[in-house]
Amino acid sequence: MDTSQMSRIQDDFDASLKTVEDARSLQDLKVRYLGKKGEVTGLMKEMRNLSNEERPAYGQKVNELRQHIDAAVEEKRAEIEAAALEERLKSETIDVTLPGRTFNIGSQHPISRIIEDIEDFFLGLGYEIQEGYEVETDYYNFEALNLPKSHPARDMQDTFYISEEILLRTHTSPVQARVLEARGGKEAVKIICPGKVYRRDSDDATHSHQFTQIEGLVIDKNIHMSDLKGTLELFAKEIFGGEREIRLRPSFFPFTEPSVEVDISCFKCKGAGCSVCKKSGWIEILGAGMVHPNVLRMAGYDPDEYSGFAFGMGPDRVAMLKYGIEDIRHLYTNDLRFINQFKQTEDGGETLESL
Ligand code: PHE
Repeated sequence: MDTSQMSRIQDDFDASLKTVEDARSLQDLKVRYLGKKGEVTGLMKEMRNLSNEERPAYGQKVNELRQHIDAAVEEKRAEIEAAALEERLKSETIDVTLPGRTFNIGSQHPISRIIEDIEDFFLGLGYEIQEGYEVETDYYNFEALNLPKSHPARDMQDTFYISEEILLRTHTSPVQARVLEARGGKEAVKIICPGKVYRRDSDDATHSHQFTQIEGLVIDKNIHMSDLKGTLELFAKEIFGGEREIRLRPSFFPFTEPSVEVDISCFKCKGAGCSVCKKSGWIEILGAGMVHPNVLRMAGYDPDEYSGFAFGMGPDRVAMLKYGIEDIRHLYTNDLRFINQFKQTEDGGETLESL
């Protein structure tokens, strides 16, 4: 019996096994020796060429070789698996001493905050919030508010026109006209309408071609100027502090009659005169008046039966006054160094001293 071939196969196998590093090449190696066409299987097949005497010893030798290979492959497999596990454990180790990831948490924009404060106040008085359209028709922005096409007061609000009949609303007052019309001339109305408005202005520290307004409208039977005054007085105290007073000055808006400008006593100098109030002791905060009979009539309300008041204010200006912001453009350029000053602390309190 020639066993030299067997020892050569075993030596070859042992040498190859040393170079194996992963499960796949180990499997390939096993197939090369023990597979159907493998070398050891080939040896088995040769049995049939042997005499009966030679066969048992030969068979035993081949079996030993097969067992050697089997055992060596299994041992190697265990080694490879252990190494892979080790590798994984190492790579998945959590280093609890590493600093955590910080999340950059945003903060509420000062204008959103002022709008929410104002909304909260009016919701408490039973008002509803209504929103209109930033792209409006000439009809709702002007005509339904008693501003026919040739009315000179249109010049008060320089307008971005999209076409002859379509424009960017110059104020939130068109929401008045839309809501009144929708209520069909019968129901009482008590709404505030916050939103963006647009005017053709050259931007500077106090002007922006885009800004926000909050409109207020109350319509019912027996609504008087005193209701307007009382509402705005409460509003001034709530938003600017309990000792604030208001003063009404005669003014003109085509959609209100009489019309007023409303001032509050300066919260900075308490009326003595300072840079915020330009030494007058008073700060102008909104326009208002009793809704013009023409506006009521156009929306289907009978002015002999219904009356009401309307006001319009600028949250931008309120934010600037309240937080001492000197340039309106800060509110629209979204510089994080500016906005981050309005971050809330973790307990929800404010980081900026409120007035
Ligand atoms: N719409 C007016 C403006 O933008 C403000 C206003 C609203 C005045 C309602 C009176 C009543 O200037």
